[in-house]
Amino acid sequence: MNKKYRRCIIAGNWKMNRTPSQVRGFVEELRGAMPASLRGCSVVLCVPATHLHALSSLRSRRIAVGAQNVSEFESGAHTGEISAEMLRDLDVRYCIVGHSERRQDNHETDKMVSAKVCALLDKGITPIICVGETLEQRERELTLEHIAYQVKAALSGLNAEQVRRCVIAYEPVWAIGTGRTATAGQAEEVCYAIREMLRTRYGALISRKVSILYGGSMNGDNCAELLAQPDIDGGLIGGASLRSGEFAKIVAAGCAE
Ligand code: PGA
Repeated sequence: MNKKYRRCIIAGNWKMNRTPSQVRGFVEELRGAMPASLRGCSVVLCVPATHLHALSSLRSRRIAVGAQNVSEFESGAHTGEISAEMLRDLDVRYCIVGHSERRQDNHETDKMVSAKVCALLDKGITPIICVGETLEQRERELTLEHIAYQVKAALSGLNAEQVRRCVIAYEPVWAIGTGRTATAGQAEEVCYAIREMLRTRYGALISRKVSILYGGSMNGDNCAELLAQPDIDGGLIGGASLRSGEFAKIVAAGCAE
């Protein structure tokens, strides 16, 4: 097993929840509930842009600051957008890209996802690239084809060294916020396929180093089995990341791997 080559990452995705003034209290609770030693596991909290300052000003060494979106543009006339440089200035270390909710609600295309990945890497921020199939695609047995297409598109134009700095999150759309988790076998099958694709395109050295996460109704009860899979290196957690005790349980399971 090659898990020792890569970092376990447990990333919370708060989506559009909580307020900036609730950040400090949550982080204090989470710190108190997390294992004393994270054993190399990275804990990330991806909060709305309005909460980033509150989170980064806590200067926690154990909880990395994550954003949920970035502009594909560098600067200029893009009202309402936030650049990678602005995120960097707030000590943001990770940023979710291409979440299915943004692909749906904001019509984010593969081309935009790829531009955002480049913008982030350029500023030294780790993109957490989300890919996933719909229920219809799964039922029509198009899952692996669709995932391969999304991964290829998101990484297009990157060299191997840049790919090594990316994180990929497999999030089946039908499992997000539905309470319907992929089985450990289903999740591992896709994460393995992603790693195989990285191996054929960028080589074994790179594919061994890229962390691949699972997301979609992960919680304190189902996390251990999912995180124990050989190609699942962590989780992207929505609903359960809003409850400090539950999130800490997932962190503990990640540290145990
Ligand atoms: P969920 O969300 O854990 O609430 O299903 C995961 C995600 O959308 O990142």
